[in-house]
This record gives sequence, structure tokens and C-alpha cells, in this order.
Amino acid sequence: MRVRFALNGAPVEVEAGTGENLLTVLRRDLGVLSVRETCGIGVCGACTALVDGEPISTCLLLAPLAEGTAITTAEGLADDHPVARAFVEAHAFQCGFCTPGLALTAAALLEESPSPTDAEIRLALAGNLCRCGCYVKILEAVRRAASWRS
Ligand code: FES
Ligand code: FES
Repeated sequence: MRVRFALNGAPVEVEAGTGENLLTVLRRDLGVLSVRETCGIGVCGACTALVDGEPISTCLLLAPLAEGTAITTAEGLADDHPVARAFVEAHAFQCGFCTPGLALTAAALLEESPSPTDAEIRLALAGNLCRCGCYVKILEAVRRAASWRS
């Protein structure tokens, strides 16, 4: 079926099977490679995109349910976005596989809670796993982004 939504501010229209997930459509049909498949069952957060501002595991969302939504991927975060800059300046990654999902989740957190506590940051990012174990630096990056925004 035809599915229409906004992707990083631009309208798109794709053909998707009724059982296909949004992750597949983003990568295969729209060339969005920052959403990554690892677990495929909603555990790791590598496939995170913002759907109407909320971090969603796109491996769990049927593509037809994205109809009419506004989707943001890491490609939609400007290079000078506080979270993007903070991740670079805090060296908050090694391989970078988890980084797009973490950055989007952090950006959504700061929209909702501009000055989060460490506990709130940890809770918000709990669904995004980093196999390289960069959690201390990631926490520092989100703190920095929050301080710049304020
Ligand atoms: S690939 Fe979607 S949560 Fe792991
Ligand atoms: S930086 Fe490698 S998985 Fe997080």
C-alpha cells in the first residue's frame, strides 16, 4: 500500500507491504542508513527514529502506521544541533553504531525536559544500548547539550 509521511521535513510517498516495518522502508526505499537493524525485536534502540517527536523503535512499527506522521532521523539533525555537537565534543562513541539512535532519543528528551537530572537522562536512554560501553561519555554529552541549550 502507499504510505505518505514527512521525512526530515520533506514529504515522501513509498510503497510498503502491510507486514513490513518502517525500518525496512526507511533503509531500502528511502536510503536512510542511520536507522540500523541489530536485534530486530525492540530491544537495542539502534533503529530509533522520532515519530511525531517521540523516539520509536522502527523495527517494531508497521510502515503503514507511519501514514501522516512526521519522522525525523539522524540525517534531520543539523550538524550544529547541540546534541550532535556534544556527542562529538564529549567523544561519546567508539564505533558509532548506536549513536544516531542515542542522539535522537537525547534530542527528544531535551525537548521535553531541558534540564534533566542524571537519573532522568539514564532512564530516557535506557532503551538505547551501546555495545562499546560509552555510557559515561554519553551521559556527559547529554549534560553538555542541556547546558548549551539553557
Ligand atoms: S533493531 Fe530495533 S530495537 Fe533493535
Ligand atoms: S559506540 Fe559502538 S555501539 Fe555505541
